[in-house]
Amino acid sequence: MNHSPSLQDFVLDDKEKAWFVESRFGLFIHWGLYAIGSRHEWLMSREEIAPEDYERYFALFDPDCYDPRLWARRARKAGMKYAVLTTKHHEGFCLWDSAVTDYKSTNTPCGRDLVAEYVEAFRAEGLKIGFYHSLIDWHHPDFPIDVFHPLRNHPDAARLNEGRDIRRYTEYLHAQVEELLTRYGKIDILFYDFSYPSRSYKGLPGKGRKDWRSEELLALTRRLQPGIIVNNRLDLLGLEGFVPDIMTPEQYTPRTAPTVNGKPVTWEACHTFSGSWGYDRDEATWKDPEQLIKLLVDTVSLGGNLLMNVGPTARGTFDDRAVSALKVYEDWMTLNSDAIYGAGAADIAPPRDCRYTRKGNRLFLHIFSWPFRHIHIEDMDGKLKFARFLHDGSEVQWLTHSEDVDPNVGVAVPKGMITLELPVIKPEVIVPVIELILND
Ligand code: GLC
Repeated sequence: MNHSPSLQDFVLDDKEKAWFVESRFGLFIHWGLYAIGSRHEWLMSREEIAPEDYERYFALFDPDCYDPRLWARRARKAGMKYAVLTTKHHEGFCLWDSAVTDYKSTNTPCGRDLVAEYVEAFRAEGLKIGFYHSLIDWHHPDFPIDVFHPLRNHPDAARLNEGRDIRRYTEYLHAQVEELLTRYGKIDILFYDFSYPSRSYKGLPGKGRKDWRSEELLALTRRLQPGIIVNNRLDLLGLEGFVPDIMTPEQYTPRTAPTVNGKPVTWEACHTFSGSWGYDRDEATWKDPEQLIKLLVDTVSLGGNLLMNVGPTARGTFDDRAVSALKVYEDWMTLNSDAIYGAGAADIAPPRDCRYTRKGNRLFLHIFSWPFRHIHIEDMDGKLKFARFLHDGSEVQWLTHSEDVDPNVGVAVPKGMITLELPVIKPEVIVPVIELILND
């Protein structure tokens, strides 16, 4: 760029983000050489494996079962509307045929441009296309050793850094982004990951916007793909009052909707099926069906999107646990997605043990804990036109209360309260939803 871009030029308006907010649910895919190690995508850093040793996985990478059409079909059936694939994770391995490195899938026994096949397959299923791209690179020889780098405890780390030039690395980073945004048609999301300017370690500084030349990177991204949604991890938040397109809380459901300077923001929580992003054979903390559905509902009830992650195996498959988790979403979304797509936070507090999502004059009551026969809803009398279960469309009747104190129960009924009458037995739905149609 020969002029210095103003960050305000790169703010997307709500219209440009409308498809994203409407979609609410996407698939994150973390895939790379670490699928072979199969013990977390950070194993190179955690185990302090030197780049030349880590390359043993490169020589063996051969996901012969990779069929992205199957992945895409599974995602679509689960109700997901977009996907975000790791084009390169922190390990530095590239899943496409980059012209500026040899460290890429086309040079492994696999020999395929995995990104190209992903884009084609997911687009064919009608999903929007996202790339995750790591700012961090533990393989590139010019990437200075820092707090997360596998060589951080090397006795000569500081001396090794003398030969490393971040400017050359950043050229490489920008060149790769240019490839990714010019070769594969329309790209809808770029998820950069991540900045840590204040994390110094043994005199090795962290990295942030100066290192990545983030303003230019954002300008480049938008120039090549106008309208692309770019996340918040470029370390630009607050600079000249800049607010990124989306905030991305990770493995964490906030208590209230995130804000910046007290103003609501577009946001997307990302979560894993188990505790790891990359395939991790022995990781055992897989979320159960109830947790999976509640994560989605909780997120949408706060006005956010959920990006749920799968870590494919080294053979290129989703393992059985991931397939079952996707099936949980499929079963629930098939009957309840009306309460998710295009829905957002309601401006009223839900009854006990419930969540609300809202779309226009329809409130969706998600019942997290099945009560005995009654759910009391305050301030609803006269406002409710009709109520029914989403999963089978069956009517739900309700009681109104004319007395201020119920003489039989001896409890004051707040004015305007109604009481939904539920079946004693919980319907066969993980989280049942009642649609409350309000008077206009
Ligand atoms: C992180 C991690 C990572 C994962 C990601 C997902 O910051 O470094 O491994 O890719 O976030 O949000």
